[in-house]
Amino acid sequence: MKLHSPFAFWSRFLHIILLYSVSILQPNSTIASTALLGKGTDRFALLKFKESVSNDPHGVLSSWNDSIRFCSWQGIRCGSRHQRVTALKLEGYDLRGTISPYIGNLSFLRFLDLRNNSFFSKIPQEVGRLFRLQHFNLSSNMLEGNIPVNLSYCSQLRILLLGRNRLTGRIPMELGSLIKLEVVSLSTNNLTGGIPPSLGNISSLNIVDVQYNNLVGNVPHELGRLKRLVVLYLGPNFLFGTFPPSLYNMSFMIELFITYNQFNGTLPSNIGLTLPNIQYLGFSGNEFSGTLPKSLSNASQLQMLDVSDNYFVGQVPSSLGLNLPDLSKFEIMSLTDNNFGGVLPNSVANLSTQLTAFIIGGNKIFGNIPPTLENLVSLTMLGLDGNLFTGVIPASLGKKSDQNLQTASIR
Ligand SMILES: *[C@@H]1O[C@H](CO)[C@@H](O)[C@H](O)[C@H]1NC(C)=O
Ligand SMILES: *[C@@H]1O[C@H](CO)[C@@H](O)[C@H](O)[C@H]1NC(C)=O
Ligand SMILES: *[C@@H]1O[C@H](CO)[C@@H](O)[C@H](O)[C@H]1NC(C)=O
Ligand SMILES: *[C@@H]1O[C@H](CO)[C@@H](O)[C@H](O)[C@H]1NC(C)=O
Ligand SMILES: *[C@@H]1O[C@H](CO)[C@@H](O)[C@H](O)[C@H]1NC(C)=O
Ligand SMILES: *[C@@H]1O[C@H](CO)[C@@H](O)[C@H](O)[C@H]1NC(C)=O
Ligand SMILES: *[C@@H]1O[C@H](CO)[C@@H](O)[C@H](O)[C@H]1NC(C)=O
Ligand SMILES: *[C@@H]1O[C@H](CO)[C@@H](O)[C@H](O)[C@H]1NC(C)=O
Ligand SMILES: *[C@@H]1O[C@H](CO)[C@@H](O)[C@H](O)[C@H]1NC(C)=O
Ligand SMILES: *[C@@H]1O[C@H](CO)[C@@H](O)[C@H](O)[C@H]1NC(C)=O
Ligand SMILES: *[C@@H]1O[C@H](CO)[C@@H](O)[C@H](O)[C@H]1NC(C)=O
Repeated sequence: MKLHSPFAFWSRFLHIILLYSVSILQPNSTIASTALLGKGTDRFALLKFKESVSNDPHGVLSSWNDSIRFCSWQGIRCGSRHQRVTALKLEGYDLRGTISPYIGNLSFLRFLDLRNNSFFSKIPQEVGRLFRLQHFNLSSNMLEGNIPVNLSYCSQLRILLLGRNRLTGRIPMELGSLIKLEVVSLSTNNLTGGIPPSLGNISSLNIVDVQYNNLVGNVPHELGRLKRLVVLYLGPNFLFGTFPPSLYNMSFMIELFITYNQFNGTLPSNIGLTLPNIQYLGFSGNEFSGTLPKSLSNASQLQMLDVSDNYFVGQVPSSLGLNLPDLSKFEIMSLTDNNFGGVLPNSVANLSTQLTAFIIGGNKIFGNIPPTLENLVSLTMLGLDGNLFTGVIPASLGKKSDQNLQTASIR
């Protein structure tokens, strides 16, 4: 049994960030209308946008017609004072087409959300002319080509979501100039090359998600400067080498998933103290070795520890120091496919009573299966298979299967 689903938990944090973003939809009274591009340009740009949509099965763009003013067209918001388009929001309408370069003429646009449609072809470089853009969501389309370098001119950008497309090429280092960026998700594309060190310049970053790409190289140590990082998803990719020690020292970090790369070396002994707020630690599918640091028991918010598919050694769980009531929130522990050894002590019963998954298959653990496992009252998933256990399966575990236990692989 393995736990390597992409735990897209971070959307929860967006709620918080989006609360601030409400202002995006309101007029900004300090902005005087620009001379060159006016209301007529906005209307024309929208009509061009509509023109490049070849399939609109729900007819959402049929309201984009002459009988009503463009500020009332579906998906459009305008500033009440200047009557210029500030938001274009058409998510999940099965729209098929390309994104017209005319979009770059919507010079008051702050909020652009075309997620979950079937836009294909390239993201036009003209988006770089949207110098007021704050929120850009093109996730879940079929966009191809590179991430436009000119996006780096959108200096007000706070949320950049391009996940689940077919983007290729490198992550432009120029994005490092987006110093207001809080959330960047480029996950599930075909991006190659390395993670640009320049991202370490964006001190406002909270969420970085580049999982499911083809990124290579070392993780730049500059990312360790992102002291406000709350979520970092780096895998699967082809990243390798030592994971920068500075990235284990993040006082706000809640979710760290670096699964399915080729990181090696050992975990720092004080990791549980330098990640005091960590809830989810996903290190599976790498080449880490050494023992699990005892300080993990100091990470009192820890809910999930997945270190499966590595070369860790040591005794389970006492060598982890995980036998403490401090870890009262601990729910999921997966240590499968490592080199853990020793016997499973009775103290395993002292793991959190919240524990729902205890998965330690594919190791070299021997001796008896402790009957005290029955004390783990919340357990729904138990994986002990592929070890060197001897003796009988405790009758108490049979009783457990009448209760919560849904999956058990023991031999
Ligand atoms: C124009 O949009 C309005 C509002 O959605 C709609 O009632 C009307 O039928 C549309 N007109 C045309 C010609 O499509
Ligand atoms: C995407 O849009 C479709 C309709 O076009 C909808 O059924 C689906 O639930 C949406 N998915 C997400 C993740 O929003
Ligand atoms: C708007 O954008 C298009 C394409 O990027 C461009 O050709 C056009 O001249 C721009 N200006 C106006 C006023 O439409
Ligand atoms: C962006 O789009 C994705 C995919 O449809 C969706 O899951 C996410 O909630 C959107 N986020 C924001 C902030 O709009
Ligand atoms: C992209 O940025 C460059 C440099 O500012 C500029 O010369 C070029 O016109 C921009 N491209 C588009 C399509 O806006
Ligand atoms: C990435 O590229 C490979 C090979 O070109 C292709 O099979 C795969 O579907 C692509 N993935 C995405 C997310 O586009
Ligand atoms: C941004 O980061 C790069 C690489 O880390 C660095 O060379 C550059 O000086 C930084 N720029 C600014 C403005 O901080
Ligand atoms: C870690 O990986 C790098 C590159 O993949 C390699 O050069 C280095 O020797 C490895 N270190 C250890 C301790 O295995
Ligand atoms: C962690 O970072 C703080 C400052 O952010 C620094 O003072 C401390 O020395 C660092 N600790 C470790 C173990 O790297
Ligand atoms: C960390 O946990 C250990 C073992 O429970 C405990 O002795 C130590 O005081 C804790 N350290 C801190 C800084 O909380
Ligand atoms: C569980 O923890 C308690 C308190 O720390 C200790 O007294 C007890 O012996 C432990 N049980 C086992 C089976 O180790």
